[in-house]
Amino acid sequence: MYRKMLVPVDGSHRAALAAEHGAQLAKHFKAHLTIFHVIPPLPPYVNKYEDRLGEVYHNIEKQMEENGKEILNRVKEELAHYGLDLEVKSVWGNPAEEICREAREGRYDIIIMGSRGLGEIRGYLMGSVSNRVVRHAPCPVLIVR
Ligand SMILES: Nc1ncnc2c1ncn2[C@@H]1O[C@H](COP(=O)(O)OP(=O)(O)O)[C@@H](O)[C@H]1O
Ligand SMILES: [Mg+2]
Repeated sequence: MYRKMLVPVDGSHRAALAAEHGAQLAKHFKAHLTIFHVIPPLPPYVNKYEDRLGEVYHNIEKQMEENGKEILNRVKEELAHYGLDLEVKSVWGNPAEEICREAREGRYDIIIMGSRGLGEIRGYLMGSVSNRVVRHAPCPVLIVR
């Protein structure tokens, strides 16, 4: 039923829960699992001064890329014992847009993600990324809370 599954992660507790749930489903369906991280671009008021900021700007970018790799590697290690057909992938961009793009272009069968992420504020069931993905995804979305 599910051949390709996409699990977007941001390093949060709920994304880790979603990854665990995705791994169990992938095991059951013998599916390919992609753990996906989107590195958000620096805000426009910083972006504008790329030239003037020079090395500092590039160090921040490098650090953000490193951070993304660490998030992905942590999840990969946590799921290693499932022995899955698993891939990790990261891209730069708007998280919700890139998650939907990856799902569409990679022809995924399902997205499994957390209801909230790192920016959790009490009182809201869903974060902005999960909200937008539910509305724009080309495939079913399973929200783990
Ligand atoms: N930058 C990101 N890259 C990949 N997945 C993300 C990213 N940000 C959020 N997600 C996914 O969306 C879920 C919900 O997060 P989000 O909507 O950002 O909530 P919050 O507002 O609480 O941070 C996360 O559990 C994770 O699965
Ligand atoms: Mg967030």
